[in-house]
Amino acid sequence: MHLLGELVFLGALLSAQVSATWTDPSVLDACPGYTVSNVVTEGPTLNADLTLAGEGCNVFGTDIPQLSLSVTYETDARIHLKISDPSNTRYEVPESVFPRPNNSSSVSPSSAQIQFNYTESPFSFTIFRTSTSEVLFSTANHALIFESQYLRVKTSLPKGANIYGLGEHTNPFRLPTTNTILTLWSRDSYEVPIGSNLYGNHPVYFEHRTTGTHGVFLLNSNGMDIKINDTESDDQVTLEYNVIGGILDFYFLAGSENDPLELAKQYAEVVGVPAEVPYWSFGLHQCRFGYNSFVDVADVVTNYSAAQIPLETMWTDIDYMQGRRIFTVDPNYFPLARVRDIVDYLHQHDQKYILMTDPAVAYTPDEDYAPYHRGTEMDVWLKLPNGSFSLGLVWPGVTVYPDWFHPDIQTYWNNEFETFYNPESGIDIDGAWIDMNEPSSFCFQPCTDIFNQAIQQALPPPRTAPIPDPNTPIFVNSSKTLTKRVEATDNIMDPPYEINNAADGRVLSAKTAWVNSTHANGLVEYDTHNIYGSMMSVSTHLAMLARRPGLRTLVITRSTFAGAGRYVGKWLGDNFSSWGMYRQSIAGMLGFASIYQVPMVGSDICGYAENTTETLCARWAMLGGFYPFMRNHNSDTSISQEYYRWPLVAEAARNVLDIRYRLMDYLYTAFHTSHLDGTPLLQPLFFKYPKDPSTYLIDLQFLYGPSILVSPVTEENSTSVTIYLPNDTFYDFLTFEKIEGQGANHLGYKSPRAMTTTELRQRDFEILIAPGTDGTAKGSLYVDDGESIDASVNGTTEVEFSFGDNVLTVNGTFGFDLGVSISRVRLLGASADVGAKNASVNGLQGNVTTSYDAEKGVVDVEIGVPFDKGFEVVWN
Ligand SMILES: *[C@@H]1O[C@H](CO)[C@@H](O)[C@H](O)[C@H]1NC(C)=O
Ligand SMILES: *[C@@H]1O[C@H](CO)[C@@H](O)[C@H](O)[C@H]1NC(C)=O
Ligand SMILES: *[C@@H]1O[C@H](CO)[C@@H](O)[C@H](O)[C@H]1NC(C)=O
Ligand SMILES: *[C@@H]1O[C@H](CO)[C@@H](O)[C@H](O)[C@H]1NC(C)=O
Ligand SMILES: *[C@@H]1O[C@H](CO)[C@@H](O)[C@H](O)[C@H]1NC(C)=O
Ligand SMILES: *[C@@H]1O[C@H](CO)[C@@H](O)[C@H](O)[C@H]1NC(C)=O
Ligand SMILES: *[C@@H]1O[C@H](CO)[C@@H](O)[C@H](O)[C@H]1NC(C)=O
Ligand SMILES: *[C@@H]1O[C@H](CO)[C@@H](O)[C@H](O)[C@H]1NC(C)=O
Ligand SMILES: *[C@@H]1O[C@H](CO)[C@@H](O)[C@H](O)[C@H]1NC(C)=O
Ligand SMILES: *[C@@H]1O[C@H](CO)[C@@H](O)[C@H](O)[C@H]1NC(C)=O
Repeated sequence: MHLLGELVFLGALLSAQVSATWTDPSVLDACPGYTVSNVVTEGPTLNADLTLAGEGCNVFGTDIPQLSLSVTYETDARIHLKISDPSNTRYEVPESVFPRPNNSSSVSPSSAQIQFNYTESPFSFTIFRTSTSEVLFSTANHALIFESQYLRVKTSLPKGANIYGLGEHTNPFRLPTTNTILTLWSRDSYEVPIGSNLYGNHPVYFEHRTTGTHGVFLLNSNGMDIKINDTESDDQVTLEYNVIGGILDFYFLAGSENDPLELAKQYAEVVGVPAEVPYWSFGLHQCRFGYNSFVDVADVVTNYSAAQIPLETMWTDIDYMQGRRIFTVDPNYFPLARVRDIVDYLHQHDQKYILMTDPAVAYTPDEDYAPYHRGTEMDVWLKLPNGSFSLGLVWPGVTVYPDWFHPDIQTYWNNEFETFYNPESGIDIDGAWIDMNEPSSFCFQPCTDIFNQAIQQALPPPRTAPIPDPNTPIFVNSSKTLTKRVEATDNIMDPPYEINNAADGRVLSAKTAWVNSTHANGLVEYDTHNIYGSMMSVSTHLAMLARRPGLRTLVITRSTFAGAGRYVGKWLGDNFSSWGMYRQSIAGMLGFASIYQVPMVGSDICGYAENTTETLCARWAMLGGFYPFMRNHNSDTSISQEYYRWPLVAEAARNVLDIRYRLMDYLYTAFHTSHLDGTPLLQPLFFKYPKDPSTYLIDLQFLYGPSILVSPVTEENSTSVTIYLPNDTFYDFLTFEKIEGQGANHLGYKSPRAMTTTELRQRDFEILIAPGTDGTAKGSLYVDDGESIDASVNGTTEVEFSFGDNVLTVNGTFGFDLGVSISRVRLLGASADVGAKNASVNGLQGNVTTSYDAEKGVVDVEIGVPFDKGFEVVWN
């Protein structure tokens, strides 16, 4: 959602200035550091005291004289290192927000995959890989600094280090190592400028070397700058954490010497695996800010249908609200009865509906707005230290913010969801969309008169569109004529170390809730700001669950913290329509899907802000067909960009949706695997080809599920793209042509075209066998009812496929009644010798039709066997 009052630069990617508080590194390195004493080692845990080793350097406050160190080998592959102040209860990310991972009790430090060692004075530590003694993290020569509002840890890494993560940002996927600052402080960041802090906070990085991949996670929700620099030293890259509160709470993950997927799974053990989402959520979503009335919304649904483009889910932005207040509908533009008509129509056609819900609630002491009064009665609003409400300025004008730490907040939120989104009397949404939860505020600093700013900024803005006749017929089959384009104690307020917050003069409270706002449990926004959006995510997930017990939820959020994937999916915020943003969306998505464990991710297809073009939108429709979360969405000041607006875009969308739907169960299976053990749904190429240095930089190609390489066209007006193919065997998805690069396995599934995912599930499957360099292939399929959290309610079907020596074996359990058949099996890369053979199914010859395309090397076997048990296809 567009933030009012920001400067808008057109054309090139926006870039923020790199300028955090800068102190000469030699001054920081000259700080005394600490001396280790009283070391006690007990099983997998080491505890020790750290004493300031000289006069404090007091760079951003006073050095804390005494610290405690604890190091635990939690698993064979994970070391947990904690440094805190024993004399003071400092803020730590609450367990209620971030449950700590479970330990395995009996790890032997000397045989663990990574180890910790240290020097006593000044204290520094090293994490190294046991098998090779290779140092992965080392604070040597960089003094530890621990002050009340400033924590500093600095490690040296090899020159040219391949570092990924530390989002949310719009940098390249492989982070630049020269003069880079990554700032974590949730921010409503219109047009997502490069080098600035954005909506979410994921203080984890993966570092990849030809010798292995490991990870470092700092569990801390305070504001921070992480600086990466390769110009301070000739032969090293330094990575420095500058944190303005909390404690040092590191998880070091061994990863693996050969398989980066292992690291992703180890991180999932710490932050939790992604929640499963409903099957339908992989269909196409259409949204925009600026659908002015229920008539617009219904027309879009009708037009998609007329254009034969499968629309699964229709969305509505804040336009539906009265005065932009959550939990209301505008009686003129979105009368409840007519919105209910839309929902009924969608549900009758196996389609879905999603509405936006923001956290901020209009501050209306003198008006009859029940959600405000109910919350006030329950006393659930975030407060200032003097007990008054912490006011913000958002879409409805002056607002209060829900306090997600309040013991009654879930009751409040559940009740509002049950009331407003009630299937019988309200709007029966199928999923939820939560926005503005950094939390955002439009008040300019110093924000001394928020009521006056509401007037100045005309919030809420008056409606100008003509009021529709409430009886306007909708979903009439007349396909409307479409024009080609349609318009449309500490100084927490001002801490001594100033992080590089890109909002309003870097003030921490700028464009958000006051950082001195105090939660019901006494915690202040200074510490918890970065988890506000994640906490709203959990509450919304639970409120949706309470409405429909036992059914999975789809909640899409803007702001996230580490671990958010356990509850929600994420869209990449307010991008804009440009080729640069189109390209960047891949790196952004890889961050969430392959590192942060938030695989339900996508960016606004065709671009949110500014105006798209026909060719950009056509290409983006195709790339977006490979986003896990596939949604076209734009702003109220941009031209309309539904796929049917241009013939070229409509054709591109139909083509890619055909591919996406044919691969739907392949994607669904990969997502299920992700839910089971954290295997990333999407992968950068180096995850699969970790020894091939040419892959480390690539962020314009990616793996969709385990076996499909996506290489989109990346330049305007171009109809081809130069891609990198590692040493492996590939097949063109459309022509089936074999392309030798040499090595792994590929296998896919497909079912013919359908207009909804419900219809898709009634279609037969096809099996596509794409043998790797060694001539074998394998794959798997997971199917369940697509919506129950407990999939055993209706049963599951789990099938393994393997191919080798001219035999395809299909084997598994068939607990969910698919009610469909396997219509055909295609074997790619087949020699004439194999092409000449007869195929038999379970030894029954003569029942199947086989053909061979010698030019492409494709054997096509029409088999038509019911898919309710295992079988074999043998070529002999
Ligand atoms: C830790 O183990 C408990 C009990 O087995 C389980 O309920 C919980 O989900 C686990 N926590 C994590 C983060 O895996
Ligand atoms: C820790 O062990 C590594 C690997 O053996 C070694 O290179 C490093 O010097 C040691 N560091 C300390 C602080 O003892
Ligand atoms: C990187 O180092 C150079 C000096 O070599 C310095 O000017 C610059 O400010 C540093 N950048 C960061 C982000 O610390
Ligand atoms: C909290 O911040 C607000 C806004 O700057 C200010 O009016 C108030 O005095 C602050 N309260 C305290 C106790 O710092
Ligand atoms: C987008 O197009 C509309 C209609 O042509 C125009 O009014 C608006 O200024 C354009 N926006 C931008 C950012 O170019
Ligand atoms: C693409 O083609 C259009 C129309 O010919 C032209 O205006 C535009 O400048 C071209 N873009 C590039 C990057 O060449
Ligand atoms: C490609 O991989 C194969 C093993 O699969 C190996 O024999 C061959 O040498 C590799 N080729 C190159 C150019 O690396
Ligand atoms: C799953 O089972 C429940 C209970 O038997 C049933 O009500 C529901 O319709 C089933 N769902 C699907 C998608 O088959
Ligand atoms: C899979 O196949 C093997 C051997 O072909 C058989 O022993 C096994 O029972 C099968 N498993 C299932 C789950 O059908
Ligand atoms: C072969 O065809 C017959 C008759 O259509 C059918 O009953 C049988 O199931 C088929 N066998 C296989 C293996 O598909």
